This record gives sequence, structure tokens and C-alpha cells, in this order.
Amino acid sequence: NGVGKKIPHESAARHVSGEALYVDDRLEYPNLLHLYARLSEQAHATIVKIDTSPCDEIPGVVCVITAKDVPGKLDIGAVFAGDPLLADGVVEYLGQPILAVAANSLDIARQAANAAIIEYAPLPAVLDVKQALDNKQFVQESHQHKRGDARKALQNAKHRLQGELHVGGQEHFYLETQVSSVMPTEDGGMLVYCSTQHPSEIQKLVASVLDLPMSKVVVDMRRMGGGFGGKETQAAGPACMAAVVANITGQPVKMRLPRIDDMMITGKRHPFYIEYDVGFDDTGRLQGINMQLAGNCGYSADLSGSIVDRAMFHSDNAYYLSDALITGHRCKTNLASNTAFRGFGGPQGMLAIENVMDHIARHLGKDPLEIRKRNFYGKTERNITHYQQTVEENLLDEIISDLEQSSCYAERRTAIKQFNQSSYILKKGIALTPVKFGISFTATFLNQAGALIHIYTDGSIHLNHGGTEMGQGLNTKVAQIVAEEFQVDLERIQITATNTGKVPNTSPTAASSGADLNGKAAQAAARILKQRLSDFAAAHFGVDITEIRFNNNLIQAGEQLISFDDLVQLAYFAQVSLSSSGFYKTPKIFYDRDKASGHPFYYFAYGAACSEVVIDTLTGEYKVLRADILHDVGASLNPAIDIGQVEGGFIQGMGWLTTEELVWNEQGKLMTNSPASYKIPAVADTPLDFRVKLIENRKNPEDTVFHSKAVGEPPLMLSISVWSAIKDAVSSLSGYRIHPLIDAPATPEKVLMGVTALRQQL
Ligand code: MTE
Ligand code: MOS
Repeated sequence: NGVGKKIPHESAARHVSGEALYVDDRLEYPNLLHLYARLSEQAHATIVKIDTSPCDEIPGVVCVITAKDVPGKLDIGAVFAGDPLLADGVVEYLGQPILAVAANSLDIARQAANAAIIEYAPLPAVLDVKQALDNKQFVQESHQHKRGDARKALQNAKHRLQGELHVGGQEHFYLETQVSSVMPTEDGGMLVYCSTQHPSEIQKLVASVLDLPMSKVVVDMRRMGGGFGGKETQAAGPACMAAVVANITGQPVKMRLPRIDDMMITGKRHPFYIEYDVGFDDTGRLQGINMQLAGNCGYSADLSGSIVDRAMFHSDNAYYLSDALITGHRCKTNLASNTAFRGFGGPQGMLAIENVMDHIARHLGKDPLEIRKRNFYGKTERNITHYQQTVEENLLDEIISDLEQSSCYAERRTAIKQFNQSSYILKKGIALTPVKFGISFTATFLNQAGALIHIYTDGSIHLNHGGTEMGQGLNTKVAQIVAEEFQVDLERIQITATNTGKVPNTSPTAASSGADLNGKAAQAAARILKQRLSDFAAAHFGVDITEIRFNNNLIQAGEQLISFDDLVQLAYFAQVSLSSSGFYKTPKIFYDRDKASGHPFYYFAYGAACSEVVIDTLTGEYKVLRADILHDVGASLNPAIDIGQVEGGFIQGMGWLTTEELVWNEQGKLMTNSPASYKIPAVADTPLDFRVKLIENRKNPEDTVFHSKAVGEPPLMLSISVWSAIKDAVSSLSGYRIHPLIDAPATPEKVLMGVTALRQQL
């Protein structure tokens, strides 16, 4: 029942039976209004005219809002300003909401919204990240991490390579699109049901657009149908629009974005443009590197500051960068504002350095794995990152050698070479790549959490915490932790919706730290209650506190045994408080951004993957034949859930690097705006042979909850092995002498173009 067991997700059965309720499934009030937004048809323009009179003529329309109807603050920028709830005089991307119509049905609202007359005066639009970089159009200032003298090191290096890489973005494609349902309360406040990773921020922003104190707004969130970072900031638009209409009409209002609108309105993973200049010796060891990472942020800052920072923090991945200059740019383009997505910039930074590893290997005619190992962080001396954090308890040597053995890397490499010699059209490739991912919010203050536990007089336990459930199993893990503390059955613990009225001022559930933070906070609350019950039991039974034991739903007091239920009853009559909050903040972390130096991560999570692919050189199509993964989650809180996270992360990452391609037309319109044109991985894309393992018997040496490690994001980056294996297969056409230029995602078209380009070089 407790920690470390393979327990199914608390809602697993309800997920598959369809009984799990999402915001849109809530019972509707008869006077509920449905809200639909009209989106900008231009990427950058002044709004000359908005005529909403045609909307009002449609029967069933109750209310039309534009920017001027927002009573409080119009800007809903999460951390930095720049995101008007509705466009205010100017539109900055195609898809930006300009007005919203509330009606008795969604169909009427949509019809009316599209009937409004909007006139634009076009302004020049920048859609390309390179163009924004050339123009120096940024949403925030550029920033550098610097160690040693990269320029000099590059000049002195024996070998030197330059290159560039385009890394595509990624649509979150959560199954449940953005949705909020808002109910006005009698005191002039709002009760908000919202699918969000960050209920406290929704509370803050709803209060701010309505000019209310935060105390009048309650946000409730039972579960999301996936978030993946896309609901960290960008759930706010629908919530705030619905709140504005609820405030005007006094009626409940729901806004659920249709899939195409969701894809047009909301930001995605940041595409990146990367340039590198790298120097190395004959063995492939890095001597100096100068790397520029330019994130395509879209029109506003959103979380781009921290996202590009995280890309920079992970531009070493597992490698000692020696003399390094890493520059991060936050480019402003006329696209939706790109946002958090599993890995939060880390994957893009890592892909950059893994590409460099492949490039060096081809240049020297060596196996890329040899180059990777040559550049690993050492146990001493070469164990400090380019931002001065010491890499402690590095598990990669161990993981890589285990995985090399268990995946039979060397034998398969030989077999693949033989296969490729005799196979003219089909070519195979293999790659084994590491992951080292820093755990903690890099905005240090966010590393805090709260929880609330009530024990009722019948012994049942009500558990609440500040984290949100998006499918990752956080609620299951936190319940396990509390069950473990009290030594009671898991069934006794009632998991409840995240609610800003119960646990205040919470951080988003993000940065993979949900269980680390909220698990510790719940543990703290449980320990306070356990202490009270122990003190009471000791006094009641006249034994020393050291003789109190909680075990198997029973409490042992010296020679005497009492059930948890009975003890709780007695404690209640003795006027013992049976409710407590708990709080946690992460120790040991600090960071000075001006000096780009410190210890921003509490610890690192490690992993490695070995992927084998086969490509068809006539069509560019490919298939992942086998993937072996060995991943570190410390002492797993729940191996079943953790394996699910590793598998899901890997497959989602594979989608990012292979089939998921975002295409905008010359007007800045997202053309891949539905599942018809945007392809996430499906069952058939799963590796034919998929072997996923967690490292056993390796506790997190830090004092994390039961010495576990975060698992949500790191496995996504294991998928880099697939991309690298595809390039390996293409490179075989040159006898492994040429590094093929294949940007991410490596769609079949890009693989085919890579094959063609490489053949021309032969
Ligand atoms: N797993 C599922 N099933 N659904 C999700 O939306 N989001 C990911 C990851 N795993 C996600 C998921 C992201 S982006 C993060 S940051 C973490 O879960 C957040 O949850 P945690 O901190 O509790 O791991
Ligand atoms: Mo995850 S991208 O930190 O929500």
C-alpha cells in the first residue's frame, strides 16, 4: 500500500472506462453560457475597426466582449507583461483572440463571433527566427554562460568544426484542450474550474482582470487530460475571458477551445536555431565551444526567459565543456507565444550538443559513443558545469556501461555494418545517448509547496496538496507517501481536487518537481498529525512516546494495540486537532544569474537509451526496431507509474524529433492545425522491441522524499537516440565519413533530402 510499490494510477480504471470527469464533463447549469473567441486573421496589424453589431443580431447571443470590456488589468502575462487577454488595437500573431461571444450554445457563439467585422492595417511581420535574430528583435535580453576563454581555445584546437541546426517546435496535443468553467459567487467573487497546471496563477489572473482581491477567487482542478507544460501559463486565457463574461452577465460561463482553435491560439515548444563552433583534439575531446541558442519565442515573453536559460543549462548535457561560451537569445516573432513543454528548453539545448558529438565522430571517423564517453564529466576535476555547479553522484559511467552490455551495443554495431554492406536500399542505424537533467525550478523561489491533511472521526483521511494531476500519477504518489507515514491502507486516503482555498500560493506543477515538492509537504503534514496522535496515545496508555508504533492500520502502545480508527476517535474526544497543513522548500539551491554561477539544481536525474532504426533510402521512411532504456529515478515511489512516465516521455520525445512537424504559411498561419496534418506518434510507432528498465538499488543521495528522484521530464530526452540513430543510418551511405545535415524533426521528407544531399557529396 505504501511507497515503492507498483500501484495503479488512482484514476486508471476511470480513465479507461470514461468515468473520470474533466471540466467539460461537469453537470451544466441551465443558464450556462458558452464562449467562443474570434481570432486574428493577420500576423501583425493594427486593428482599424471592430464592428460587433452583426453578432448582436443573432438570436441566442448574450454578450460580446473586446479588450475595452475588461474591468481590471488587461495583461495576463504570467511573469512578464505582454499578453493582452484580448488584442488591444494591434494584433501580433495570426490566431490571437480579438473578441469573444457568449451565447446559449457553442454553435451560436461561434457563428456570431465569425460574423463580427474586423478591419486591419497590416504591419510587417517577422515569422522566421533567423530574421528576428538578424534584426535583434527579442522579447527579452540575450544572456551568456561563460567559462575560460572559448575564442582562444578554439584557435588553439587541433580540429575545429562549425555548423548550424534547426530544431522544430512541438504542439502539446493534450487530449483535453484548454477549458475553464466559471461560476459567479454571491459575494462578487468567482469559482473557477480550470484545466491548469497552475491554479494559483489562474486565481491571481482572474482576480487581476476583474480587479478583485485574490481572496474572492477560488480555483478548483481535479485532473487535466494532459498538460505537458501547455497548461502552465496558457490555461489563463479561457479562464479570464469566461470570468469577464460571468462578471458582466452574472451567469456561469464555459469556454472550451475546439482543437483547431487551441492549436492556433496557444504556444508550443520553442523551435530553436543553433550555431556552433567547436574545437577538439585527436581523441575527440572538446577543447573549446562557442554555441548560440536562439529560441523562437513568438510574440511575447511568457516563460521564454527561463526556457532559454534551461536550454543553456543543458547545452552540456552529460559533457564537460571545457572553455565555453554559451549565448541564449529570446527571439520575437509574430507567432503564438511559445511556452513550457516537457523539458522546458532542456531538450533543445541537449540536442545541440548531441549533434556536435555526432559531427565530431564523423569527422574523426570514430564511433559516436566513443566520442560521447570521451567527453563525459569526470569524478574529479572535470566535474564542474559551465555554470559552476559540481556534478555529484554522477551515475552515467555506470548506466552507460550497463546499457552497452545489456543492449549488446558493440555486437549490434558490427551486425548493422554488415547488414548495410549487403542491403542496398534499406539501411540501419544505432545510437546510444545519455541524459543528465537538472531538477529544480531555476527561479529558486518556486521551489516550495504546501499540503493539507484532515483526519475525520471515523479514521478516514482527506488529502490535499498544491500539485496538480495531469496523468503523471502525482496524486497516487502523494497518497502513497501519506499511507506510508501513517502505516494505513491506501484506500483510507481520499485524494481531492487541487483547490486554492485549501492550499494557497502554490507553484505550478512543473519542472518535474511535483512529487518532490508536494510529496515532502504532505509528508510534513502527516508527520505533524502522527506526532499529535503519538503524544496522545502515549499519555492515554501511560507509555513512553518511544513505545508507540504505527503498523498495518494499528497503533501499538507498549503492550497494547488499538486500531487507527479507534485511536482517532479517542483523540477527537480528547480535543486533539486532527487537521494540519505541511510545508516544504528545497534546500541547498542558489544561483546568481548575473554571474551565471551557482547551484541551480538540487540534483541531476540520469538515464540513457540505445535505439536502432531502419530507413528506406528511396522514400525516407523509417522504423524504430528496438529501444533499450536504463533510467534513474532514485528509489522509485511507484515503479509502475515511473515506467509509464519513462515510456511516455520517450515516445513523446520521438514524436518531437520524427513525425511532429509544425508548418506555417507565408502569412503566419499554422497549417498543421489538426490531427489530419499534425502527426503525433501512434501505437504503430512504438519500437517493435521496447525494453525499459529503472536502475535498481540507487537511492537519491539527497534528502528527497523517500530518496526518490523526479521522473516527469528527463525521459523525453532519451529520444535523442532515435534522431541520432536515423543520422547514423544515413551516414552509413558515406562509410560513416560524412555527418548528414538532418534538422529536427527528421520527417521522412527530411531524411530523404538528407540522403540525397549526402549522396551528392560522395
Ligand atoms: N505525464 C502525463 N501523463 N501527462 C502530462 O501532462 N506532463 C509532464 C510530465 N509527465 C505530463 C506527464 C511534464 S511537462 C511535467 S513538468 C511533469 O509531468 C509534471 O508532473 P510531476 O512534477 O508531478 O512529475
Ligand atoms: Mo513541465 S514543461 O515543466 O510543465
